[in-house]
Amino acid sequence: MRASTKKKKPVGRLRAQRPTRTHEPEAPPQVVVLAAGIGSRMRSTLPKVLHRIGGRTLLEAVIDTAEGISPSRIVAVVGAGKDRVEAVLAGRAVTIVVQHPPLGTGDAARRALPALSNGPGPVVILSGDAPLLTSPTLAKLIERWREAGLDLALLTFRPPEVGDLGRVVRDDRGRVRRIVEARGATAREKRLTEANAGVYCFAAPALTRALGELSRNRGSGEYYLTDAVEILASSGGAVEAVEAEDWREGWGINTRAELAAAEEIERRRCLERALEAGATIVDPATTRIGSKVRFEPDAVVHPFVCLDGTSTLEQGCEVLPFTRVTDSSIGSAAVVGPHCEIEGAQVGPRARVGPFARLRPGTVLEEDVRVGNFVETKKAVLRAGVKASHLSYLGDAEVGAGANIGAGVITCNYDGEKKYRTTIGEGAFIGSDSQLVAPVTIGKGAYVGAGSTITRDVPEGALALTRVPQKNVEGWAERRKARKEEKPSAKGE
Ligand code: UD1
Ligand code: CA
Repeated sequence: MRASTKKKKPVGRLRAQRPTRTHEPEAPPQVVVLAAGIGSRMRSTLPKVLHRIGGRTLLEAVIDTAEGISPSRIVAVVGAGKDRVEAVLAGRAVTIVVQHPPLGTGDAARRALPALSNGPGPVVILSGDAPLLTSPTLAKLIERWREAGLDLALLTFRPPEVGDLGRVVRDDRGRVRRIVEARGATAREKRLTEANAGVYCFAAPALTRALGELSRNRGSGEYYLTDAVEILASSGGAVEAVEAEDWREGWGINTRAELAAAEEIERRRCLERALEAGATIVDPATTRIGSKVRFEPDAVVHPFVCLDGTSTLEQGCEVLPFTRVTDSSIGSAAVVGPHCEIEGAQVGPRARVGPFARLRPGTVLEEDVRVGNFVETKKAVLRAGVKASHLSYLGDAEVGAGANIGAGVITCNYDGEKKYRTTIGEGAFIGSDSQLVAPVTIGKGAYVGAGSTITRDVPEGALALTRVPQKNVEGWAERRKARKEEKPSAKGE
């Protein structure tokens, strides 16, 4: 699978005696993500890799990291909760292979082999339950594999407590010999502090050979990928461990407590990224920022705000307390909140939204739009300067620039079967408490009188009014009072 040059290259003191090769400098890696395990220690009906961190599933976080090293292919090994896992991967450039039953990490890696192509690049194996690994650390591991011409480079880390992790066993010259799982470790091995992160960079032929030689673990009956380390190291293969600079990168999730700890680490990272980008986070302790949220300088985030998905906060915008923004962009100098729900929306420059507004997917607010309290929008485009200040529903609508939507205006977009569009022309004025029964078009500059139910198009510049004409009955109140005094009610006696 791999073409290697014959040229020998000296690499570091420890390994000077070893046979070494160099790998082709440019060949892209292929990545395998192991995600078939049941995750029984989570005590959950949800497959472990579908639990979330920073708003993403663990699996997506790992795949995002994989994409960061520009691989030629990503293969995910799935099994437990297969259909749900596959649904999360839909639309991503990931080849799925199935492992059933789950017979261990070694068996899972073996399932992926047929999906890999022959190429000189490395095969990188990742755990679907280790979401804190970053692409630069992975790139460093691959770099070491390349420059030292290794058969296997594995990532290690030193967490505050090694717990149930596999330990790296080295010989007296410091060379990696094998990984020992906690369960099979001697008391002395248990005290080792260097843990296996479950992140490997293999030369393809070495991987194929090692997987072919795995045997079942006597205790658990599973095939351990970690045994590949001893298989290669004891047969003269070049195996090296690369320690992560930050131990958090190796953090894997087997339990709820580990998930919560990972979330806290990710939360800190996201906050730090926001601050580095020039945002003001008024109260870091109550602010939640998803892993994919982007910030421009001088964006201001107030307490109790959740920013999720692929949201962007542009230059100088402000998100006020108790507001959630998901997959949305907030334009420069726009102000959103307090108490708003913003999802799948684009908020234009200098727009003002809230308090208590709900922007649903497909909402586009252009510059200087004003959407006030208790206004809901869905698939609605509000052109520049539109005002919808109070108590409205605008769904499947296009509202021309400068139009005014009065309090309580409703687009009646649904007849119980289908949705219909409402088009409101530039500069139109829709009086309070009107219903626009779609499909309907209100012409440019037209007026709709307050309290109207509009069922037909209104021409440009016209006034439409459907109100019942008002009748004033002069002196009615006085006469009513007089009647009451003539005939006192039984109760009053
Ligand atoms: C594994 C390593 C351990 C390492 C730790 C790092 C082995 C035997 N041990 O232990 O040395 O310190 O990761 O976090 O590899 N999976 C499958 N199919 C299976 C079993 C597992 O796809 O049959 C997947 C899981 O979904 C998971 C990953 O492989 O994403 C790791 O499996 P897990 O059971 O969590 O291994 P650990 O016990 O954490
Ligand atoms: Ca694990």
